[in-house]
Amino acid sequence: MPRRVAILGSTGSIGRNALDVVRRHPGRFEVVGLVAGRQVQRLAEQVREFRPRAVAVADDAARRELLGLLAGRAPEVRVGEQGAAEVTVGTGAEVVVAAIVGAAGLVPVLAACSAGAVVALANKEALVVAGELMVRAARENGAVLVPVDSEHSAIHQCLRSGGHGEARRIVLTASGGPFRGRRRAEMERVTSAEALRHPTWQMGPKITIDSATLMNKGLEVIEAHWLFGMVPAQIDVLVHPQSIIHSMVEFRDGSVVAQLGLADMRLPIQYALDYPARHDGITEPLDLAAIGTLTFERPDRESFRCLDLAYRAIEEGGDAPARLNAANEVAVDAFLHGRIGFLEIPRVIEHELDRAAAGPVFELAELVESDRAARGAARTFIERERTTP
Ligand SMILES: NC(=O)c1ccc[n+]([C@@H]2O[C@H](COP(=O)([O-])OP(=O)(O)OC[C@H]3O[C@@H](n4cnc5c(N)ncnc54)[C@H](OP(=O)(O)O)[C@@H]3O)[C@@H](O)[C@H]2O)c1
Repeated sequence: MPRRVAILGSTGSIGRNALDVVRRHPGRFEVVGLVAGRQVQRLAEQVREFRPRAVAVADDAARRELLGLLAGRAPEVRVGEQGAAEVTVGTGAEVVVAAIVGAAGLVPVLAACSAGAVVALANKEALVVAGELMVRAARENGAVLVPVDSEHSAIHQCLRSGGHGEARRIVLTASGGPFRGRRRAEMERVTSAEALRHPTWQMGPKITIDSATLMNKGLEVIEAHWLFGMVPAQIDVLVHPQSIIHSMVEFRDGSVVAQLGLADMRLPIQYALDYPARHDGITEPLDLAAIGTLTFERPDRESFRCLDLAYRAIEEGGDAPARLNAANEVAVDAFLHGRIGFLEIPRVIEHELDRAAAGPVFELAELVESDRAARGAARTFIERERTTP
């Protein structure tokens, strides 16, 4: 029987790679649900190829356009985050690829956890915002969180070589992004086009900017905390520009186990889709002799301040990671639209963390409110800075 798969964020970089893994393994998977935002033309092509039972799009305008394009041959089309959640649970998906970008993916990911699915998690922001709620929902409902982020996929694989409680430390590797080696002053005037030129990975725009600021690594530290139950002091970051070692685990006896592979997201996606089994892969084999040299350096935390802000948020706990994430999403969007400079991104986030003490979190509604307030405060801060001479 093919494994039933729903893909949230099917029109994005991870979503398209996930569909490629499915396409290249005929008979092994059945796509039962697709969720996208506003790239309706691309979604219509995916619907024609994969024939899902139901789809969801961001709004009514996208729904009308999709129905027009599919001219009477459309599956059920839902709208908004509730619609996405319905596609997640209502199609009988066994595996849900969570690849919507940002906090917009939170409600459907929580629905997938509550439905007891295998959640192939790329949408790290959902875990950053609501880690405790997600882990609890997964535990209570028998859902399995299998990371798609290459670093966390690596850790997940490395941990399979040791017993529970035997890991002492994990080391997340980072490419260092396009501005590795630059000092703060040299990044004052960098443009979004420069920041979008990632040296090793092809990704969507938001995560590419996060990689340039090192906030991506900061979000990954928080993600690792929730996925693997590690405290911040057990999570290290090491810059490895070749992006071949995807991360490592140090065990209590001093052994270090690493996972290696080329920078191709289809590898961790396939790992999550097939978990706990392994099947023939579709990526190029790794030729270490051809690569020759692997290098490592410590991150420059003075120039790339976002990493420490993420550690701070996790130490503060409560809603601090959710507010960090919200301020970062607003700041990255403002940078991509030319409204703020690159070095202002950490300033917007730090302002949000300074603005309020971390509040406790018991329910999703509290996080939604923290997210809303942080976005408002970040936008106000950006406007004030822009208009102040
Ligand atoms: N790309 C990578 O290699 C990579 C690696 C590790 C982790 N991740 C994580 O994976 C997630 C996706 O990244 P990406 O690079 O694939 O991003 P992306 O290329 O920008 O794609 C984002 C996807 O989310 C959809 N989306 C956005 N807002 C939505 C909404 N309100 N409702 C429904 N769908 C919505 C988009 O739909 P439309 O385009 O149709 O609007 C698109 O399908 C992020 O959390 C990222 O951190 C990505």
